[in-house]
Amino acid sequence: MTETTRKIDEVLKTGIKTIGIMTGGGDCPGLNAVIRSVVMMSKKYGVKVKGIPYGYRGMFLGEKCYIDLDVEDVDDIIEKGGTILHSSNKDNLFKYPRRDKNGLMHNEDGSLIYDDFSHQALENVQKAGIDALIIVGGDGTLTSGRDYSRMGMPVVGVPKTIDNDLRSTEVTFGFDTAVTRCCDAITSIRTTGEAHSRVMLVEVMGRNAGHIALHTAIASSADMVLISEIPYDSEQIVKDTRAILERKGSAIIVVSEGVHAPVQGSHKNKIVEGSPDAVRFGGIANVISDYLENELNSERDENGYTINDVIIDVECRATNLGYIQRGGAPTANDRILSTRFGAFAVKVLMENLVPDANGNFGKMVSMQNNSLTAVELEDVINSATMIDNQRRVDSDGELVELARNMGISFGDVR
Ligand code: F6P
Repeated sequence: MTETTRKIDEVLKTGIKTIGIMTGGGDCPGLNAVIRSVVMMSKKYGVKVKGIPYGYRGMFLGEKCYIDLDVEDVDDIIEKGGTILHSSNKDNLFKYPRRDKNGLMHNEDGSLIYDDFSHQALENVQKAGIDALIIVGGDGTLTSGRDYSRMGMPVVGVPKTIDNDLRSTEVTFGFDTAVTRCCDAITSIRTTGEAHSRVMLVEVMGRNAGHIALHTAIASSADMVLISEIPYDSEQIVKDTRAILERKGSAIIVVSEGVHAPVQGSHKNKIVEGSPDAVRFGGIANVISDYLENELNSERDENGYTINDVIIDVECRATNLGYIQRGGAPTANDRILSTRFGAFAVKVLMENLVPDANGNFGKMVSMQNNSLTAVELEDVINSATMIDNQRRVDSDGELVELARNMGISFGDVR
C-alpha cells in the first residue's frame, strides 16, 4: 500500500463509473479515433468519460483542466490527425526536472534536480472521480502507466506510435499512416530524382527501429534502405550506389533516422536534457548524402565522367520527411485499428477487471495473430532501458529477406 489511496479495492466494490483518458508521447494519426471509440463504447456501458489534456502534465494540473467528453464532443474527429486532448512527450511525473527562472535546476555535481509529483497527480485524478485510466501512448508513456497501476489505479494502455516498435503487440496504430505518407513522398521525390539523374536520400522516423524505413522501402521499391538493425558498411554503400546508378541512372535510398554516421563522429543527435527519452534524431541523411557525393565523385574516367558517359558529377540530395509522417488524417486502416483498440480498452476495464497476484490492474491492448487481446503492462515494460523495451526489425526475418529478394540493398557486406 502506497501513501496514495489504493483505488482498485474501492473500484472493485463499487464498479467503474468514470473513465479518464489521456494521450501521451509524440502524437500519431489515429489518437482522435481512439478517443472517439472510448467515448462511444463507454456510453454503451453507461460510464462517463473525462479527458485529461496535455498528457501527464494534465494529470498534475488537476480537475480544473479535465474535460467531460460526450458523443457530441467526438463527432467526426475520426478523420482528424493530432489529438483533441493535446500531448506531451517529456512530462514523466515520477521524475520531473525542477525548474526556476533560469530553466532546469542542477545539483552541485551538474546532475538535474528531480521531483516526484506522481502521488499528487494520482490524487488529482481520484478527486475528480476518475476510477480508471485509459492511457494512449508508446513505451515512455506506458512506463508511467505501469507505475500508476502499481499505485492502485486500474490502467489500460492503448499502444500508439508511428514507429511500430512496441513489444507485445504486432502492430500499433499510426504506423500505416506514416508508411503511406513516406511512400506518397517518394512518388514525388522519384520523378525529380529521375529527371536529374540524382541519388535521392529520404530520411524517415522510427528512432532505433527500422520498421518505417523497411516497410517504406518495400512498398516504394526503393533501391537501398539503411536501418540501424543491419549496420551498413561505408564502402559498400558507395559500391552499391554506383552499381544502381550504372544500371538505372538514379537512385532512391531510404534512411532510418537512427542509423550511424558513415564516418565516426561526423553526426551527433540532439540531446534534450531532462527528457525521459533524451535523444532527438534527425539529419543523418544529409550527412550520408554528402559522404556519398564526395566518394562517388572521387573516381573519374579520362574525360572526367564518374558513372558512365552521361553522368559527369554525381549529385546526391537528402529530404528529411520529418513531421509530415505524424500529422494529418489517418489512413482508413489506422482509423479502424484505433477504433478497435479504443473499444477493446473499455471492454477490458468493464468486463475483465481482475487484479493480478500483486493486486494491481495494468493491461495493454494488443494485437496477436490479428486478434485483440490484453497483455500485462508489467510484461510490455519490463526492461530498465527504453531501447530494451522496443521491438526492432528482425534482421533475419521474412521482410528483410523479401526486401533483399526484391533487389533492395541494405548496404551491408554479403
Ligand atoms: O516516437 C515517434 C517519433 O515520431 C520518432 O519517430 C521521432 O524520432 C520522435 O518521435 C520525434 O519526437 P519529437 O516530437 O520530440 O521531435
